[in-house]
Amino acid sequence: MAAQRVCAEAELAVSTAMKVVLDGKPIAVVKDSAGQVHAIGDTCTHGDISLSEGFVEDSTLECWAHGSKFELATGKPLNFPAYEPVPVYTVTVDGGDVFVDPDAVITP
Ligand code: FES
Repeated sequence: MAAQRVCAEAELAVSTAMKVVLDGKPIAVVKDSAGQVHAIGDTCTHGDISLSEGFVEDSTLECWAHGSKFELATGKPLNFPAYEPVPVYTVTVDGGDVFVDPDAVITP
């Protein structure tokens, strides 16, 4: 399936995350502190926690439950207790809208 519009870029403030579900996949759409938009799997690999309820810091998204930080570009956790990466999806910003392709997994 092709990329799907998830929101207007203006709806996503810097250093915030928004949960969307595309094709049944929970995805965190995140604008990092530099203003770049990312999309990663929303479910923490340590527990059934929505990462979009966590904290954006620089280019990471931190799980609020036990503090693992996931790198937005790679989906990799930078610290325990999570040790498995979340998927990373292709994001396109076009005409002020954000599009995510739920089939285009960049990593792992
Ligand atoms: S549930 Fe996310 S770090 Fe434990």
